[in-house]
Amino acid sequence: MSKINVCVIGTGTISDHHFKAYANNPDVTIYGVYDYVYERAQKKAEQYGAKKVFKSLEELFLDTNVDAVSICTWNKTHAEIAIEALKHDLHILVEKPLCMTVEEAYAIQEEADKHNKVFQVGFVRRFGTNTKVLKSFIDAGKLGNIYYAKATYTRRLGNPGGWFVDVNKSGGGPLIDIGVHIIDICWYLMGRPKVKSISGNTYNHLGNRKNVKNLSFYKTADYDQTENTVEDLANALITFENGASLLVDVSYTLHAKEDELGVKLYGTKGGAELEPELVIISEENDTILNMQPQIDHLTFDFQNAFQNEINSFIECCVTGVVSQAPVEDGVEIMKILEGIYKAAETKSEVRY
Ligand SMILES: NC(=O)c1ccc[n+]([C@@H]2O[C@H](COP(=O)([O-])OP(=O)(O)OC[C@H]3O[C@@H](n4cnc5c(N)ncnc54)[C@H](O)[C@@H]3O)[C@@H](O)[C@H]2O)c1
Repeated sequence: MSKINVCVIGTGTISDHHFKAYANNPDVTIYGVYDYVYERAQKKAEQYGAKKVFKSLEELFLDTNVDAVSICTWNKTHAEIAIEALKHDLHILVEKPLCMTVEEAYAIQEEADKHNKVFQVGFVRRFGTNTKVLKSFIDAGKLGNIYYAKATYTRRLGNPGGWFVDVNKSGGGPLIDIGVHIIDICWYLMGRPKVKSISGNTYNHLGNRKNVKNLSFYKTADYDQTENTVEDLANALITFENGASLLVDVSYTLHAKEDELGVKLYGTKGGAELEPELVIISEENDTILNMQPQIDHLTFDFQNAFQNEINSFIECCVTGVVSQAPVEDGVEIMKILEGIYKAAETKSEVRY
């Protein structure tokens, strides 16, 4: 069997995780790279042994040896690159969020429906070991009906700067950047219910806090502190047609004691905490049990999850099986994200 020739488009920070995982997959040849910044792409090509450094997207799409692409660019360009890649009949793994708006999401889905190609959204947390283990318990009915979930991803200091905080390039702040992960993981584990109503708030009281000294944080490849047109905190209550609800808060900065990551699900038979550490809660013999699975990674294991995500994508390309994070899920999550921004802007509940 011939290998899948993969190109990585956008060779900034997250691309390393794609490259490393592709390099470990025996069914892949890292064929080419492309970035606005040619030297950056060239460096990655040398590092990971890519055969080609493309000078333009047109050149990449006209190369008939390419089978699949990873899109690791600014959110603003996900839709146009994904649609063009689909038109050239390529398999696609696009980083989260799928795009910036619901309108773009529908346009991508419409094009994807015309092609018999794998389309995977980078919901990497679905591929974490702790998620897979919890999902197996949920699928076995151990939590019963999940009617409530609570997700928190708050950074006390973590405005990544650059394009991430230019709303025209990112589509929003912590909500669309990191909120997307925890909203998706709750929604996925809750059984992907249809959204019914959303209320939410966004705040921009603290800015990027570039004055803070002696505390390091994540920065984008082209770090720049001059622009900051995104929220620094968002919260929301999302209600679903089956009556379940999800409460979320996310921040790039907050006067909090420490960063916090929490993903909690509550059902009619049991509950679970996925983050900060997997625990399954149950009741037996009139006794409440907090059960901790004995596994290597109780919390999100970035490297393993990326490897699983890429392996799963390539397996779909090879076998034709539908992805575990398909385009329609990306569309539903865009509806929720856009709904929260709309609810915050209009200061009223959004109904579907
Ligand atoms: N899955 C995760 O946990 C995770 C983590 C971080 C970032 N991301 C996502 O990955 C994507 C990239 O984020 P990053 O942190 O690597 O950003 P980055 O700024 O470090 O890198 C982005 C790169 O893309 C290039 N680029 C942008 N638009 C381009 C275009 N149209 N054509 C060619 N090159 C282009 C830039 O020059 C830059 O080198 C974003 O969508 C982000 O949301 C996902």
